Amino acid sequence: DSPTPQHARGPAMTQAPLLRRITDYSSRADPYPLYEELRRTPVLHEEEGGPYVISSYYDIKGLLHDPRISSDAANATAADDEFSAPEATGLPPSFLRLDPPEHDRLRRIANSSFGPPHRPDRIDGLRGELGAIVCDLLDGLAGAERIDVVDQFAYPFPVTVICRLLGVPREEEPRFRAWVDPIVAGLDPGNRDDPGAPGPKAAQEARVQLGMYLAGLVEERTRDPRDDMLSDLVAGHGPDGAMSMMEVLSTAVLLLIAGHETTVNLITNGMLTLLRHPEYLERLRADPGLSVRIVEELLRYEPPVQLVPQRTCITDIELRGVTIPKGSRIWLVLAAGNRDPERFKDPDRFDPDREDIEHLGFGSGIHSCFGAPLARLEAQVALAELARRLDNPRLAEDPPPYRTNAVLRGPRHLTVDVDGVL
Ligand code: HEM
Repeated sequence: DSPTPQHARGPAMTQAPLLRRITDYSSRADPYPLYEELRRTPVLHEEEGGPYVISSYYDIKGLLHDPRISSDAANATAADDEFSAPEATGLPPSFLRLDPPEHDRLRRIANSSFGPPHRPDRIDGLRGELGAIVCDLLDGLAGAERIDVVDQFAYPFPVTVICRLLGVPREEEPRFRAWVDPIVAGLDPGNRDDPGAPGPKAAQEARVQLGMYLAGLVEERTRDPRDDMLSDLVAGHGPDGAMSMMEVLSTAVLLLIAGHETTVNLITNGMLTLLRHPEYLERLRADPGLSVRIVEELLRYEPPVQLVPQRTCITDIELRGVTIPKGSRIWLVLAAGNRDPERFKDPDRFDPDREDIEHLGFGSGIHSCFGAPLARLEAQVALAELARRLDNPRLAEDPPPYRTNAVLRGPRHLTVDVDGVL
């Protein structure tokens, strides 16, 4: 995750096509002026064979609910998709990349191991445990005068949580990290322009490796079930029966990655935003319950998933007078929709007190975020405790250095000076 990728060093990017600027690293620290430009052409198609970029709130929401738009990897003919690589054998796509009815069946089975009605305890019952993990991490920073919120807090926290939930040994994180990085890099369409970045083939190979690693754990749980999601996924308690072994593995890969690569950015974007708006940091310190509104507004104002680039039209679609031909790839820029003045009053203002925060941060429709209750709870606990325990926190660098990824966007480091950790 180098902070100065090759494609960041081009000529003045303000002259470049908007499509290139979305993925270009120079847009990363503050992509919002670019999104404002994008919304002026709400159905943008700049390159022959390139994607149609959709950036206004109501269009995005409509398309997320439109059955003529497919998430199925098999419909993605573009050569830049990890699933269309010729060697794409081994692990089948997860339900994120499937349409109904398969999507619905797999999501229902996964859900029966994750939350209500089958496991009402699994997320709500976590609050105390989340508090304890956060407390340990902050205790470990005692005496520090300068901390990196990412490496010392916002990353280790959700990794610990998802490992415990799934039943993956926490200490093996360095091992699976090596496979997670190329998979996550493969989600960024900008990577195709950077010869140094891992491509779709590397992402596909890493997925297979991670699947093989998880297969060992799944085998253990088949013989000796425990109280964790891997055991429940294998057993398949719901009315849909069990998943096949390959389905269990692709679901486990999805949950392991989605379970931490996004939450780290929500927590870090959150701390950065609060340090830029100290009045809310103060208020949060006095009233931890405000974390609920703060996290919702963050999902609108600085969403960790900026765009959904993996959708394909399965028929011609008319939108705002433009015909999007069958087979076209569509990018839905959630973060641009979240700042659409047609939908939100004063959209560029961070305002947790706003009455109406129906953001697109978790997507919408049948693929809307499966882990949303967990992600919300993690971020609420994390931000409330950071506000309470960091004594006089100050940003050491603004803007901080960002991760290269244009899809999963967030700071690579967030250096904060403190008078102490209480
Ligand atoms: C789907 C965002 C945390 C699991 C999604 C989607 C978004 C999203 C935007 C929709 C993708 C699409 O429409 O193609 C986020 C954000 C998170 C977060 C911003 C944290 C702040 C989590 C966590 C988990 C998780 C903690 C797991 C424990 C999933 C899964 C899907 C998904 C499995 C696929 C759902 C489907 O295809 O039906 N997430 N997510 N996410 N998320 Fe999350």
